[in-house]
Amino acid sequence: MATIIDGRAVAEKMRREIAADTQKLISERGIVPGLAVVIVGDDPASHIYVRNKKRAALEVGFCSEVVGLPQDTTMDELKAVVERLNKNEAIHGILVQLPLPPQLDDREIIRTIDPKKDVDAFHPINTGGILAGKYDFLPCTPAGIMALLRAYDISVEGRECVVVGRSNIVGKPMALLLLAANGTVTICHSRTKNLEEHCRRADILVSAVGKPGLIRGDMVKPGAVVIDVGTTRLPDGKLSGDTAFDEVGRVASYITPVPGGVGPMTITMLLRNTLVAARLQSGAK
Ligand code: GUN
Repeated sequence: MATIIDGRAVAEKMRREIAADTQKLISERGIVPGLAVVIVGDDPASHIYVRNKKRAALEVGFCSEVVGLPQDTTMDELKAVVERLNKNEAIHGILVQLPLPPQLDDREIIRTIDPKKDVDAFHPINTGGILAGKYDFLPCTPAGIMALLRAYDISVEGRECVVVGRSNIVGKPMALLLLAANGTVTICHSRTKNLEEHCRRADILVSAVGKPGLIRGDMVKPGAVVIDVGTTRLPDGKLSGDTAFDEVGRVASYITPVPGGVGPMTITMLLRNTLVAARLQSGAK
């Protein structure tokens, strides 16, 4: 049976460290890290995510502001909000919750965020830095997965890594981080032929698709590490990952559950990026 990777426990430990570092920044330099989260419209799932981000920020001792805007907000209005936050010295990190309503161009909005405050690491300056191996922030979900692998002493070097999904938020940056850790990386997506065969070669398999049951037990190499980023809300209200958990758990050496695996790490990395942003903007290292 696979060891179940306890994302809540790893996240909890890292949040305690972030809280201690925050207290130090406050007492030594008088700087309280500030995180602003902008949400447009009334998508219930997005509102839950945003509430959790704010609560987590307050728990580690940050200031946090949520800016809620109506569904029919225009590009000019949203840009003006971001620009105001760019200029606000009490705010070190800015996050615009995605997805945005259809009249808003998310790429253009992300470009409006000051790259030094871009704690999602979505701005082209930051994504370009990651491609080149030089960066201040890493995107939260892939960074959280790398932190989980480190916490369980799982080495990436020289291993076959297969990432299923090629989103800008998870799949693509995940592949880059595994590559930077000297993994041999394959990216699979909706047009991939023989997904099963690729998955079966993986020592480390990351699935970030959002299709419950996509990864079955017979697609996993015995002893592989399986990281499940899928979070699909089922009709009964429960969350489901991409893996058939019981089946895959009998074959893998490590597996992340949903919920309680990758999820808690994503917000933890957002907190860390905000702390780093506050230090950089204040001139502290
Ligand atoms: N929507 C889903 N995940 C994310 C994320 O990591 N950042 C932002 N800004 N929006 C999201």
